[in-house]
Amino acid sequence: MSCSLKLAALSFAYGDREVWSGVDLSVGHKEKVAIIGANGCGKTTILECIAGLAKPLSGQIELFHKPMISRADFEAALRQIGYLLQDADDHFLCPIVEDDVAFSLLANGISRDEAHEKTERILRELGIDALAKKVVYNLSGGEKKLVALAGVLIKEPSLLLLDEPTNALDYSYQLRLAEILSALEQSIVIVSHNQEFIERIVGKIYLLERGVLTLAADLKREILHSHDELPPHTHPHTH
Ligand SMILES: Nc1ncnc2c1ncn2[C@@H]1O[C@H](COP(=O)(O)OP(=O)(O)OP(=O)(O)O)[C@@H](O)[C@H]1O
Ligand SMILES: [Mg+2]
Repeated sequence: MSCSLKLAALSFAYGDREVWSGVDLSVGHKEKVAIIGANGCGKTTILECIAGLAKPLSGQIELFHKPMISRADFEAALRQIGYLLQDADDHFLCPIVEDDVAFSLLANGISRDEAHEKTERILRELGIDALAKKVVYNLSGGEKKLVALAGVLIKEPSLLLLDEPTNALDYSYQLRLAEILSALEQSIVIVSHNQEFIERIVGKIYLLERGVLTLAADLKREILHSHDELPPHTHPHTH
């Protein structure tokens, strides 16, 4: 299988407190997976390790078939990665929505006209074009989340890391977002507590529990084992 991401025997600790260990995860080209688990079990930390923002204690990370060893390896891989942080406020670099969304394109030398056109398109697609001229810091929680997401998607990254993408989103936006993400060709890792949302998008659900990551459901095949976090309505996808 051609993999966008591979974690092998990864472990992580804050000081002498181990958060998780023996984490193995492969995400194929165009594959979409979710990681679920209780608050504080270390889901965000896994995404931070993938993005090179946190350093695992041991184990290997491979991105786009390259082992991540140095800072420079991560920097090169990050050009192809879109990371939606759990807290949208950590994203914003410009006060006006459309400037913030276009920021990464302009920083990479794309012309103003092209950046403007792409920004308009992504804001329209997410249904937030009316926010283009607004001040980021005055937006509601859900609006901020969507603007941050627009800034991530506009780069058209080959791998998306999404930490709690539906936090603060109302139900109709959750449905719209699920539709958008399922239609994307990219590989996606979603961390979420929103079972219904992830089931609309991913093929596999991994559960992080007591420091161990296991495959909890393969929705394209069958439910591997039942768990409190997988309610009875969990069912294999028919598409
Ligand atoms: N900088 C830090 N120093 C020490 N401990 C930390 C630090 N950051 C996180 N932790 C701890 O590591 C554990 C894992 O945190 P993490 O944010 O990865 O959990 P999570 O699964 O994403 O939780 P949530 O569902 O609440 O977002 C938590 O117990 C947290 O308190
Ligand atoms: Mg988290």
